[in-house]
Amino acid sequence: MCGIVAYVGPKDAAPILLEGLQRLEYRGYDSAGVVVSNRGLKLRKVKGRVADLAKVVPVRFKGNLGIGHTRWATHGVPSDENAHPHLSADQRIAVVHNGIIENAGELRAKLVADGVAFASETDTEVLAHLIARAADENDTLEEAVRKTLKLVVGTYGIAVIDAERPGEVVVARNGSPIVLGIGEKEMFAASDVAALVRYTRQVVHLEDGELAVLKADGFHTFASDARETAKEPLTVDWDAGHYDTGGYEHYLLKEISEQPETITRTMSGRLDERFHVAHLGGLNMDARETRSFRRVKIIGCGSAYYSGQIGAQLIEELARIPADAEPASEFRYRNPVVDPNTLYVAISQSGETYDTLAAVQELKRKGGRVIGIVNAVGSAIAREVDGGIYLHAGPEVSVASTKAFTSTSLAFALLALHLGRVRDLSPADGRRVVDGLRRLPGQIEEILAQGDKIAELAQKYAKHPGMMFVGRVRGYPVAREGAQKLKEISYVHAEAYPASELKHGPLALIGPDMPTVAIVPDDELLDKNLTTLGEIRARGGQVLMVGHREPAAKLADDVIVIPKNEIELDPILLTIPLQLLAYHAAVALGRDVDKPRNLAKSVTVE
Ligand code: F6R
Repeated sequence: MCGIVAYVGPKDAAPILLEGLQRLEYRGYDSAGVVVSNRGLKLRKVKGRVADLAKVVPVRFKGNLGIGHTRWATHGVPSDENAHPHLSADQRIAVVHNGIIENAGELRAKLVADGVAFASETDTEVLAHLIARAADENDTLEEAVRKTLKLVVGTYGIAVIDAERPGEVVVARNGSPIVLGIGEKEMFAASDVAALVRYTRQVVHLEDGELAVLKADGFHTFASDARETAKEPLTVDWDAGHYDTGGYEHYLLKEISEQPETITRTMSGRLDERFHVAHLGGLNMDARETRSFRRVKIIGCGSAYYSGQIGAQLIEELARIPADAEPASEFRYRNPVVDPNTLYVAISQSGETYDTLAAVQELKRKGGRVIGIVNAVGSAIAREVDGGIYLHAGPEVSVASTKAFTSTSLAFALLALHLGRVRDLSPADGRRVVDGLRRLPGQIEEILAQGDKIAELAQKYAKHPGMMFVGRVRGYPVAREGAQKLKEISYVHAEAYPASELKHGPLALIGPDMPTVAIVPDDELLDKNLTTLGEIRARGGQVLMVGHREPAAKLADDVIVIPKNEIELDPILLTIPLQLLAYHAAVALGRDVDKPRNLAKSVTVE
């Protein structure tokens, strides 16, 4: 949430900062700004996108040191004034910041009482004024930043420059990620490796409480007590190509289309054909420990939570361990009972979602055993958990999650197989699941091939003001994810309900203006689901059915037929047509598909 880029080296900073911000724009996109240092600070910032910023940055905007930001508003509306970077009153210090300074009101009041004039409504500007004061009293920018951060309560990832020390950038992290990029006689920093991979693949992740000083010839990192820390650079697997649209019109369509490969990568090297088990070495658990859990509790936010519901179902069915999923954002606030016999599973594509991270930290504080299902390698959640499963789905750039959703569901199938095979899941059932998993990529290809038909259906259904999504048991989380995708990218109101609950209230909404997308797999609940379709149509509601065959009677207006897998794995496939439906609805309605209004990827605030 919000993007930060910083550069120091021999080149002009502005083009590097603008390019980096473009790559981070998915993290926040209501305003953007850059500042470079060249005999004083030169600042440009605007309400709008990075492209709007690029228009107001002059060609001769020279300076070998600079910082930039793309914003998702928390304190103050999106405006030119509230855009970052923020400068101190004497124009000496510039700061960009992700996160929330909780005691900003108090700090601001003290500064105002001392006669400091504020130029914005943001919490960040407080930092600029405080660092400027400290810079006057301290020998180094590093000391000035450290001293200021001691006064601050809240979360931050910051980058700071000082007009009077034009060769260095100071960055610090507490709850909001900062990654350093190591170049040839140049250094970079950013809130995400996406902004760095064009220039370097050697990176260093800062830990919470750490601060770093970057100069063209290298960097030093320090713990909160100013002790120098030794950090080993990591090599990032992903290169700049992974962040391009690859010829697709939108990142979202690219990411939907990549799913045969991404789920193949998630299972690669993890399936054992001999014993019909899944190898998940990253869990760091032996068979005895794996057998010892009495419950599984899954936490995540948004789509990650819905994939957790699919996961809970898989674990109950295949491993026969009671399992349930809960939004991490709720879990962390209700003082949960942490049980030593429960395996906790935290899910996060970005590995940065603050609510999920805070829930993991609460669990660990209470002695819970937590594993992660995470896409971003080396991210905060990945580093916090006791072990886990990386998705290897590659970077997900579009704000709406698609390939990470299916890869997470697949990772749960692997986990369920793993837990099941140390318990009572028979080798024959293990083989059935392994074979089913192997069939998934080809079956996803078959669904993708129906893109044109689904685009036509999307045009037809997107005309309505709202849509209902229903499913039973395995189909219910699929319905929830389908409704989530539709509402977030097309802004069409969408509600998801268990099909069984329809008659307990929401049936009142059904009529010609409220079509229903019904998830109807060929499972033991088929007849029940078909009865629900009849009830909807009897009330004048249109039905778009997603399932494995056309119903015998005319119970649906339209049907998307998809290939059948094992009943436990079908939810993964049933999700794909709903992603395409949402995508094409958003395109038909002329929405900003990859950057839907009001949202941002990686929600690093509470
Ligand atoms: C929906 C979506 C969000 C995320 C949620 C958690 O398409 O992308 O609901 O799933 O914000 O994000 P991660 O997985 O990064 O923790």
